[in-house]
Amino acid sequence: MRKPLIAANWKMNKTIGEALTFAGAFGQMLFERFEGGDMPVDVLICPPFLGIPALCAVFAGKDVHIGAQDMYWKDKGAFTGEVSPSMLKDAGCTFVITGHSERRQLFGETDEDVSEKARAALDHGLKPVICVGETLEEREQGKTNQVVSDMIRAAFSKIKAEEVPSVVVAYEPVWAIGTGKEAHPADAAEVIGSIRETVDALFGEGVSDELRVLYGGSVKPGNIRAFMLEEQIDGALVGGASLDPNDFFKLVEAAHKARS
Ligand code: 13P
Repeated sequence: MRKPLIAANWKMNKTIGEALTFAGAFGQMLFERFEGGDMPVDVLICPPFLGIPALCAVFAGKDVHIGAQDMYWKDKGAFTGEVSPSMLKDAGCTFVITGHSERRQLFGETDEDVSEKARAALDHGLKPVICVGETLEEREQGKTNQVVSDMIRAAFSKIKAEEVPSVVVAYEPVWAIGTGKEAHPADAAEVIGSIRETVDALFGEGVSDELRVLYGGSVKPGNIRAFMLEEQIDGALVGGASLDPNDFFKLVEAAHKARS
């Protein structure tokens, strides 16, 4: 059974102080609701780099994971402006997002970069959250499954079959991100099914049974249930709605309810 994962991608939002305010409010709701601290749903928050130490300190010893939104794949050296996997690990991160469409589109991240980052994450005990998704133009041309499958093949090119359970994929159609126009849950589930087929084709039948695949793109407290009712969808990667502690708590609660 794949444990659901509800992940917050704060993008370039929140100062350290704002992150701490969020953490206080969200933590209070979460730990009141799930007393004992054993979460039925994995919770992950990915703040900007500067917020990572503060959130790791607040949630130390708690069942809330902290991750980064990106990293470079080398361990150290003359790479001005970059942050390494060992630095993230040292700060307390357990996950790292790789290949978000905003990094691909705005910062020129390539499939090759994504595969290097996913490899480096696993080498350092970080779980990569590999983002894939088609543009509106690609969808309209009927190329969704092909585009997504190509991205998956590239991103997994340096990954071994036994590492697949430590990998998370986020299917985020570019046209659904920040637009308020979420994908139809059945359509998202179909694309995610084709992602699993690609992973099985790469590694062997059934390997994808242990791969968590999230949906991302305009997920809100009001629509998450419909996604969680799809068996193929193991959770959500949430942008805008993850910035408010009440909304993010509602997302975790709704995901848990849909699966229990
Ligand atoms: P929104 O939830 O704001 O659409 O963002 C989705 C996303 O890009 C998460 O990585």
